Amino acid sequence: MIFAANFKTNHTRATTKHYIEVLTQKLHAEKSDDRVYIFPPATALDRFEGAFTLGVQNAYPAVNGAYTGEIGLEQLEEFGINTILIGHSERRQILGESQESVAQKFAFFQEKGFEILYCIGEPLEIRERGDEAVMRHLLSQFEGIDVGYEKLIVAYEPIWAIGTGRSATVKEIASTHEALRQTIKKPLLYGGSVNAENIKEISKIAFVDGVLVGSASLDAERFASLVLR
Ligand code: 13P
Repeated sequence: MIFAANFKTNHTRATTKHYIEVLTQKLHAEKSDDRVYIFPPATALDRFEGAFTLGVQNAYPAVNGAYTGEIGLEQLEEFGINTILIGHSERRQILGESQESVAQKFAFFQEKGFEILYCIGEPLEIRERGDEAVMRHLLSQFEGIDVGYEKLIVAYEPIWAIGTGRSATVKEIASTHEALRQTIKKPLLYGGSVNAENIKEISKIAFVDGVLVGSASLDAERFASLVLR
């Protein structure tokens, strides 16, 4: 299973360092095939050692240049970062990233050989229209995306389940992942109110290869107990 922690705009450089120490200690005892990813805010990026992969939540598709407020490849290379989250619904919705700009970012970091954790997800009004509408929406979020890319991981995160404490039901996750598997032959993560309580159930669902966790990843001990389930 893949366990990815998305801190979003939480944690500082100091608390991230402490978090990684605690997590490393907790996960140390456990020998398993699980893969852990941590996506701290950009200000906390560093060269951390441990049995996890450090990734960036976002970056601009350029090596460097005049992109005020953004970081590019050069800033990531300083810390040996070669994993990126692309297409998160918060960036699409709050930061206004279009499918075109998401695809452009994807192509840039694909060309640079990054591992890409690519997020898709539908809003509630689409979910309420039924499975067909959901799939149409989700597949439209692969426009311009090379779904055959070898270092691609896909995260299905229904927007209405993010940060709401209301995870999608087992049935909803199962049917969506099964339908996605027809097109996506890469690891498929589920995200949206995953926590230490529902992880056992969610991890057993067919075609769920891992989880992308927001709120329940913020405390290192809680996240470790989720990973160790
Ligand atoms: P929550 O786990 O807080 O619902 O967030 C999910 C998410 O958006 C992870 O990227």
